[in-house]
Amino acid sequence: MSNSVERETGGNKPLRIGVLASGNGSNLQALIDRSADGTLPAEVACVISNNAQAFVLERARRHGIPALHLDHRLFSSRENYDAALVETLHEYRVELLALAGFMRIITPVLIDAFPNAIMNIHPALLPAFPGLHPQRQALEHGVKIAGCTVHFVDSGTDTGPIICQAAVSVMEGDTEDLLSARILVEEHRLYPMAVRLFAEGRLTVEGRKVIIAPESGISSPGSA
Ligand code: GRF
Repeated sequence: MSNSVERETGGNKPLRIGVLASGNGSNLQALIDRSADGTLPAEVACVISNNAQAFVLERARRHGIPALHLDHRLFSSRENYDAALVETLHEYRVELLALAGFMRIITPVLIDAFPNAIMNIHPALLPAFPGLHPQRQALEHGVKIAGCTVHFVDSGTDTGPIICQAAVSVMEGDTEDLLSARILVEEHRLYPMAVRLFAEGRLTVEGRKVIIAPESGISSPGSA
């Protein structure tokens, strides 16, 4: 069954993205930069972190984006924490939720509030190396090609339908840091691209697969 994730608000207004992150925020920065230079028809509506010290919050503040600390330790369950996230995200009229290094397991409370509208970026070529330390897992496994994946989020860990991927070579003598840095360059290109496809209403989820519609104005193969 087809489950279109086409935006209900129409294509003219910038897509309102909420970003959940726990760390440095370089992927947030890529989304902000591509929105600012006009290549991404979106705006970051708010950034929420479970970590008050995360540099991602400082990045948001520097750009005048609401930067919110929501401390998971103040909630009695993951579900209650997620309910507070949903409330805040609705307050900021978020249309797409982008996870960018958010170090929390999320529950159906959050997933069901944004059907097919939560993305995550993972620094591995899924389904290989889900979970923690994927770059280390890749090196230990001896793969020759590593990379990153943007996918829709479902209830599993890094298991949702894949939107797009980018590959990088693993070099002789690579360390986890070197490989991570090489992958990160691709992440910063890939995440804004996936968000742009969403903003343009070009993503349709069919079972495990994400179908990407051609750019409007470009005729499909075989048409006149
Ligand atoms: C990235 O490698 C991302 O793929 C993973 O967490 C890291 C976040 O990096 N999910 P940053 O905070 O965006 O710099």
